[in-house]
Amino acid sequence: MTEMTPVTEATAVKAATLPDAQTVTEVKHWTDRLFSFRVTRPQTLRFRSGEFVMIGLLGDNGKPLLRAYSIASPAWDDELEFYSIKVQDGPLTSRLQHIQPGDQIILRPKPVGTLVHDALLPGKRLWLFATGTGFAPFASLLREPQTYEDYDEVIVTHTCREVAELEYGRQLIDLIRKDEMLAELIGEGFADKIRYYPTTTREQSPKMGRITTLLEDGTAFRDLGIDGGITPETDRAMVCGSLAFNHDIKAILEEFGLREGANSEPAEFVVEKAFVG
Ligand SMILES: Cc1cc2nc3c(=O)[nH]c(=O)nc-3n(C[C@H](O)[C@H](O)[C@H](O)COP(=O)(O)OP(=O)(O)OC[C@H]3O[C@@H](n4cnc5c(N)ncnc54)[C@H](O)[C@@H]3O)c2cc1C
Ligand SMILES: NC(=O)c1ccc[n+]([C@@H]2O[C@H](COP(=O)([O-])OP(=O)(O)OC[C@H]3O[C@@H](n4cnc5c(N)ncnc54)[C@H](OP(=O)(O)O)[C@@H]3O)[C@@H](O)[C@H]2O)c1
Repeated sequence: MTEMTPVTEATAVKAATLPDAQTVTEVKHWTDRLFSFRVTRPQTLRFRSGEFVMIGLLGDNGKPLLRAYSIASPAWDDELEFYSIKVQDGPLTSRLQHIQPGDQIILRPKPVGTLVHDALLPGKRLWLFATGTGFAPFASLLREPQTYEDYDEVIVTHTCREVAELEYGRQLIDLIRKDEMLAELIGEGFADKIRYYPTTTREQSPKMGRITTLLEDGTAFRDLGIDGGITPETDRAMVCGSLAFNHDIKAILEEFGLREGANSEPAEFVVEKAFVG
């Protein structure tokens, strides 16, 4: 017979007061500032790859302490994955960084967001521009079969300060390229559609510099073998980074003639902030 843990008054109260609770199934620390984790998925939760939800923990005052988080797993996954910063004095992440498998977090099942295929007009080449944890929504979209059905080519750029901050994205893309289930669903050769362009700004790596600079001076196009730059006829883009990054990339895309889209009015590019401040 399986040994059961007795339900003490304390655990019963915890379960009863944690609304929308989900259980942590896996935690992986990437650097002293970054970690990823997986939680159980509410059976009723439907979302589009690229959307975000509110997650959190109970605050000291007994009220939910919630923050916006991109869902990093694709819509078809049985569990939910998140990719998180650790802000040492951050109200949520100073505590969230200590979660362990078996712990509970709060997850409000109301997904929203603009980094979704529906907000873009049909195109041939999709650019995913991320800095830092802005990679999270793309970790979802890169595992979404529609991404490869809709586009001939998917260019993922990820700019971080240091090499170790690229590792979550690098390993994920390696796994996706070898994923037999995706190959079966989308067709062999889908992996050849992914072009990965990681850059660092404060630590030496094979490609140094902000992606904005590398686009402006033409280096990125030369490296990727793209003649003629970005055009509104064929190129679509999704952007996720700091406010300053989003602002600068938006200006570059508009210079190339692309227009910002939304769920209600699809166009050539969409933007979402990876954090506020
Ligand atoms: C639409 C949206 C989606 C988001 N998705 C994610 C996600 O997938 N992963 C994630 O880690 N965060 C994400 N965030 C940020 C997240 O909501 C919180 O800000 C973060 O978890 C820190 O919470 P906190 O309470 O510890 O600190 P806060 O008080 O929220 O933030 C303190 C300070 O830390 C810095 N900061 C906060 N978040 C980040 C970050 N992600 N990267 C770098 N610096 C940051 C900012 O300078 C901020 O002012 C998202 C924010 C928005 C608006
Ligand atoms: N990452 C760390 O090691 C670290 C450590 C301690 C504290 N922090 C703090 O945490 C916060 C977030 O840091 P973060 O590194 O996650 O995010 P970030 O400051 O937004 O930087 C992430 C990457 O985006 C680049 N970038 C920033 N603004 C850009 C723009 N306008 N156009 C193009 N590229 C741009 C950065 O290049 P640049 O390097 O050229 O800015 C960096 O490579 C900051 O307030 C920072 O002070 C970060």
